Amino acid sequence: MGKAIHDLAQEHEKILHVLDIVKKVQANDKISKEALLKFYIELADFIEIYADKCHHGKEEHNLYHTLAPLGGGVEKNMIILLLDEHVEARALNKEIRKAAENGNISEATTAADKYRKLLLEHINRENEEMFPSIEKLITQKQESVIYEHFLAVEKRTLGEGGLARIDGIIKGWETELLA
Ligand SMILES: [Fe+2]
Ligand SMILES: [Fe+2]
Repeated sequence: MGKAIHDLAQEHEKILHVLDIVKKVQANDKISKEALLKFYIELADFIEIYADKCHHGKEEHNLYHTLAPLGGGVEKNMIILLLDEHVEARALNKEIRKAAENGNISEATTAADKYRKLLLEHINRENEEMFPSIEKLITQKQESVIYEHFLAVEKRTLGEGGLARIDGIIKGWETELLA
């Protein structure tokens, strides 16, 4: 596994971990309305900053357009579908934030559940179809260059200490909502 794939695979793990927290929070009927609304607003922040601007940003700006011209129809169609899913995920996250800001738990819950299911499929598609294409079509040297660009995206989107802040928010959900 090259550096760029390894980096994306690690981010997939973190996103999957958060999707699992969403499922557990939604199954827990002991959480107060206030705590749930706070959770959904923090979730929308996590999705916007980490899953979208950082992770999808790396894929869209540094990976897909390198991969697309190297592959055939299969890769091109896969990338069109992956980009569509990013757009859909962005729209669902706007719904999560808007519902939470309006105090509408049931709409926030529905949007977060749709987001969770979409991202499960999306990440699975990337792990099963995109990573093998990268390994087949992109040289290790190209992958190292892509990885350097990834680091720049991370610095720009998460900022100094950004990753630690995100991990702190995730820990907070686990200790305050699910302990
Ligand atoms: Fe993606
Ligand atoms: Fe991804």
